[in-house]
Amino acid sequence: MAKVILLNGSPKANGCTATALDEMVKVFNEEGIETEIIHVGNKDIRGCVSCGYCENNGKCVVNDLVNEVAAKFEEADGLVVGSPVYYGSPNGTILSFMDRLFYSTSFSKHMKVGAAVVNARRGGNTASFDVLNKYFAISGMPIAPSTYWNMTHGFTPEDVKKDKEGLQTMRNLARNMTFMIKAFSDAKEKYGLPQVEKDFFTSFPDGK
Ligand SMILES: Cc1cc2nc3c(=O)[nH]c(=O)nc-3n(C[C@H](O)[C@H](O)[C@H](O)COP(=O)(O)O)c2cc1C
Repeated sequence: MAKVILLNGSPKANGCTATALDEMVKVFNEEGIETEIIHVGNKDIRGCVSCGYCENNGKCVVNDLVNEVAAKFEEADGLVVGSPVYYGSPNGTILSFMDRLFYSTSFSKHMKVGAAVVNARRGGNTASFDVLNKYFAISGMPIAPSTYWNMTHGFTPEDVKKDKEGLQTMRNLARNMTFMIKAFSDAKEKYGLPQVEKDFFTSFPDGK
């Protein structure tokens, strides 16, 4: 059974971001996709300290939720990251989490499907959405589309429930993500994964 992990970056386990993610979960359940919502924003998650431990050990030196989720992410077929908008960006906790999750893991994320979801009271949604999509784009993860940018509006879950277009966008996103996961699974069997060249790491060590 295919599995999607949904990360809730909000400190509120039942807030607006969770309401948007729940709307996706309903569709995943109907489509026979296993789901797990993981609450990240209510945990103490420090940022990456660039120590290099993960390069030799394949996991983060800070042995917290990041390492737990890493094992689940390796097995999953899709990852949804949801965040409230704070000062026009994803919130600090989810950014610390995503930096460490993606930097510390060396397993292939190639063709796992990614999606970002943001909730704002008013503004800063598209900038936050763009930031979160960048983790997928650099990791060989196709980004699932919907019928609008993946955002809901509200200050309370009750507000979000009134955002009919936002919730519809979440449902359409989950359907598209399901299709992509199933299609990639079939295509992997038929064609195998595309080749990935890995040799170059251009950082101009000679200063030129
Ligand atoms: C520190 C902080 C900064 C915020 N900045 C913004 C902002 O830039 N734009 C906005 O529309 N709402 C802003 N908000 C409101 C949150 O986006 C809103 O409360 C949140 O999306 C609700 O989702 P949640 O219930 O999942 O936490 C901010 C809230 C906090 C706590």
